[in-house]
Amino acid sequence: MDKFTIDGNRRLTGQVGISGSKNAALPIMAAVLASDGPLHLSGVPDLVDVHSLLSLLETLGVDSQYGDDGQLRLLVQTRQPHVAHYDLVRRMRASICVLGPLLARRGRARVSLPGGCNIGHRPIDLHLKGLAALGADIRVEQGYVIATAERLCGASIFLGGPCGSTVTGTCNLMSAATLAEGRTVIEAAACEPEVVDLGECLRKMGAHIDGLGTPRIEIEGVSQLGGATHRVIPDRIEAATLMIAAAITGGHVEIAPIRPDHLVAVREVLEQTGVRIETSTGCDSLASLVTTAPPVLAPTTLTALPYPGIPTDVQAQLMALLSRADGISVITDKVFPDRFLHAAELGRLGARIVREGPTAVIHGVPRLSGANVMASDLRASAALVLAGLAAEGTTTVRRIYHLDRGYERLDTKLNQLGGQVIRSEDKPVATPPHWAAPASHLAIDG
Ligand code: UD1
Repeated sequence: MDKFTIDGNRRLTGQVGISGSKNAALPIMAAVLASDGPLHLSGVPDLVDVHSLLSLLETLGVDSQYGDDGQLRLLVQTRQPHVAHYDLVRRMRASICVLGPLLARRGRARVSLPGGCNIGHRPIDLHLKGLAALGADIRVEQGYVIATAERLCGASIFLGGPCGSTVTGTCNLMSAATLAEGRTVIEAAACEPEVVDLGECLRKMGAHIDGLGTPRIEIEGVSQLGGATHRVIPDRIEAATLMIAAAITGGHVEIAPIRPDHLVAVREVLEQTGVRIETSTGCDSLASLVTTAPPVLAPTTLTALPYPGIPTDVQAQLMALLSRADGISVITDKVFPDRFLHAAELGRLGARIVREGPTAVIHGVPRLSGANVMASDLRASAALVLAGLAAEGTTTVRRIYHLDRGYERLDTKLNQLGGQVIRSEDKPVATPPHWAAPASHLAIDG
């Protein structure tokens, strides 16, 4: 297991590249299970989660060739396997994305329920409700979802849940409905750019989909999907994280490529804190973006919401930033109301944060000081790294395997901007024989 040792209080400056989106790439890769042709992808980030899904797809009969430059070729070789085993699914919740395409093309799927998670309760009831509405026979037995359907039938499905729609649920349903007989209407569909990107790729494979990016997606089923060539969108969460890295270190950083339309809410909230942001457009809606920090950060109030709101996946990083603002800020998370494990760890660096239900109140402090901290999940790890970059002295962030699941070479990118982040193996410290790690330290997030 690796750790980061960060020598903080360095201003980040320069240019850095943004990788392809993890959350777009994963459901797109899973969609190959519904297709009869090869899928040529580019911009697939080199991440632990991508390799975990490749391992799972291999057990489901998919041949893959992954190049150094984010090129990925996928082709189904055999359609016999239909079981997604626990040992592979538990590594990553997004593995559930194989359920819809597998069922739609093979008529049966047995997929392990995804494991527990450190960002709060993450049920898959909406995925199952949607597939049942398409005519699948679904039951849960011995920790597995067992789904069968000779051919799915189009239906009207409402996907709204207590915290809004579901991103991977919409992906699952949309992929499955492309091969259903007749018309499917998904109401309260997720509008996230990653869902749109999957929809665009499915269209290239021959699917008939309207309404992408709106809460009402209409799909006219086809009998077969073919191959496609597709470039994955830039990662808006990585982009936001690097914008915040510039802001929290008093820096001046240019990032590219990005889709400015995917970053509107993040841009708005950063501007409220006094950060200056300039974009310059390039081709294919892609752009570069320059973030310049103000001398003093202003406090603000924000709520993480489904797209186009502020992403819950940037909530932790914004909390790190606001811990250095000159005044009191308030953050509420309406998507994952329990996603606050980072608050206590930020406190170890001197942040003053009080949590009350789905809301955290942050009393900004003039300086943070380096400390030993423990990453609890993917975005929380990023928040701790950002705080460590701004803190005086040395910060050690442990369990950064969480970070490697979703950020491509973040340490290299930060060092390219003048940060000093050293990756090394975190050797276990000898402990007395009677000592046992608390169970919460062993939890795997998704
Ligand atoms: C995806 C993203 C994750 C992001 C999240 C919200 C991927 C691989 N992961 O996760 O990074 O934080 O969207 O933007 O794309 N819910 C239900 N029932 C369900 C499904 C979800 O009640 O069947 C609830 C969840 O508990 C949560 C909310 O709906 O409160 C949103 O979850 P969802 O959009 O499904 O998150 P994921 O797709 O798992």
